[in-house]
Amino acid sequence: MRKALTLILAAALASCSPKGGTAVSIDINPGTYPLITNIQGRTRTCLDGQWNALVDIYETGYYSYRRTPIPVENSWFKDRSYFQAPTQLIEYDFDAAPTLKVPGDWNTQRPELYMYEGTVWYRRKFDMEAKEGKRYFLYFEGANYETVAGLNGEILGSHEGGYTPFCFEITGKLRNNGNSLVVKVDNRRRMENVPTVNFDWWNYGGITRSVHLVETPEVFIRDYSIGLDKSDPRFISGRVILDGAGSVSEVTVSLPELGLDIPVATDQSGVGTFRVKASPERWHPGNPRLYEVCITSGTDIIRDRVGFRTIETSGHQILLNGNPVFLKGICIHEEKPSGSGGRAYSMEDARTTLGWVKELGCNFVRLAHYPHNENMVRAAEEMGIMVWSEIPVYWTIDWTNPHTYANACAQLRDNIGRDHNRCNIIIWSVANETPVGATGRKEFLFGLIDKARELDGSRLVGAAMETAFVTDSLATVNDAELFEKADIGSFNQYIGWYDGTPEKCDGVSWTFALDKPVIISEFGGGAKYGYHGPDSWRFTEEYQDLLYRKNLAMLDRIGPQLAGTTPWILKDFRSPKRALTGIQDDYNRKGLISEKGEKKAAFYVVRDWYSTKQ
Ligand code: GCU
Repeated sequence: MRKALTLILAAALASCSPKGGTAVSIDINPGTYPLITNIQGRTRTCLDGQWNALVDIYETGYYSYRRTPIPVENSWFKDRSYFQAPTQLIEYDFDAAPTLKVPGDWNTQRPELYMYEGTVWYRRKFDMEAKEGKRYFLYFEGANYETVAGLNGEILGSHEGGYTPFCFEITGKLRNNGNSLVVKVDNRRRMENVPTVNFDWWNYGGITRSVHLVETPEVFIRDYSIGLDKSDPRFISGRVILDGAGSVSEVTVSLPELGLDIPVATDQSGVGTFRVKASPERWHPGNPRLYEVCITSGTDIIRDRVGFRTIETSGHQILLNGNPVFLKGICIHEEKPSGSGGRAYSMEDARTTLGWVKELGCNFVRLAHYPHNENMVRAAEEMGIMVWSEIPVYWTIDWTNPHTYANACAQLRDNIGRDHNRCNIIIWSVANETPVGATGRKEFLFGLIDKARELDGSRLVGAAMETAFVTDSLATVNDAELFEKADIGSFNQYIGWYDGTPEKCDGVSWTFALDKPVIISEFGGGAKYGYHGPDSWRFTEEYQDLLYRKNLAMLDRIGPQLAGTTPWILKDFRSPKRALTGIQDDYNRKGLISEKGEKKAAFYVVRDWYSTKQ
């Protein structure tokens, strides 16, 4: 499909290859438009709701019986209707098709789609009287995994990746009435994908986040950044990017609460920068202070709320606004906190989940293992919760495939592109538990770390590494090259679960080759809520309780080099890898809370431990 699409769309975009590799021109996400920042602050029509949907496991709507691409006018993008033309041979009809809710994964909407991996076609009709002098974009907050979008019978383009936003310009393509938006979503796992074929979470497919029809002036503020100046925090600095013909214009960045109206001149390419002296209150968990910002250029105006803080390391300390901070964290998957589960997407989902995070006594969350929806990041920012944000370069990726690398780069670019103004994000993570020594891995990950630093020098960059034992009682991070390259030494360890029993913790001490902040980015073990027995029985609450007590005592022995931890994980979550009937039933049970929101004994062990930390 991908090759076919390339032929049809033939749009070669950014070239991107690991350092040392030859730059290859890869057509990642052909037809998509550079990201528009702060979609919630834009003039937009939300297209959420019930969309007609057809399951197409053989991709009949796209390929001939010889598996060659069908010409677009004969594909399902044409949105023809048999019942409107019964004399024609048309073997589909979106008007007659059942619906799926957008946003939402298909797995939890229809029992027959619970484990479905394949293609579903979505169709949304809408009216839109385009105005003179305005531009129009279709903005998808996210869809898993590969999306091809068509409007009024014309393919707009495609996007790979299940967790980052993407958009298409549709100026001049709209009808006043009866626009047909047809979206093909394929969630099949493939070796060359990011993530690859094997991962420990449910492969929820579909248009899993909201879709917006965005209206802008001819020349508009497509992107902007604003924050404390990295070189001197006595200043606020940032950048504005105008998009549109003749992007030389006067822009004003206003911060009314600081009495600032900052004039910004943009150059021929529409880029303008600014740097002014200011002393805003610093954002921190105890005072998540956000400031109104209003950016105007001609007839375009965009409003946001931003916070100001510094984040850096000094020796083995992480400094927030110059003060050492201990990251009292927890890992989270993006699943709804109640009901049938499935992909979370709403502000309500975010606030419920983050309410538990607050109850646990946390100031930090690791949003595993992919960029969560924007509501989650914004809710955490409002609630004073710092964030580790991660792209799904997870386990055994296809390290030597240029397409895979370009895809990972695009997901990193768009994760940073969407969230670079969210001051609560303090860490960009480029990977999780990747195999040390695998051919191409070092170039792949170092390239991503360099790119993260190039795109945004104002945050820490890391990855979740693995551990190894130096002796049978001395443990360390098992990834010297990544530990050296990253700003923090963050690693996962499972002593007491995958490695021995909880008592093993008593005899283990840790050593680290570098004087960097260390974060234990995962530890834990499973328990089914309400399953009780001896603490030697796996999956009892007693076992999990003991495992946490032993691990936390071991963490306390690490001393001041431990700058934080994010136990695995806040809530039980679906995974096809967890097949133990009567205990797992498709759920990974390492949550401190069950999928029904019931708190296990270990929740209180962690809460009590955090209450002793500053
Ligand atoms: C790994 C991995 C997680 C996984 C967890 C587990 O460390 O990073 O994604 O769910 O262990 O096995 O439960």
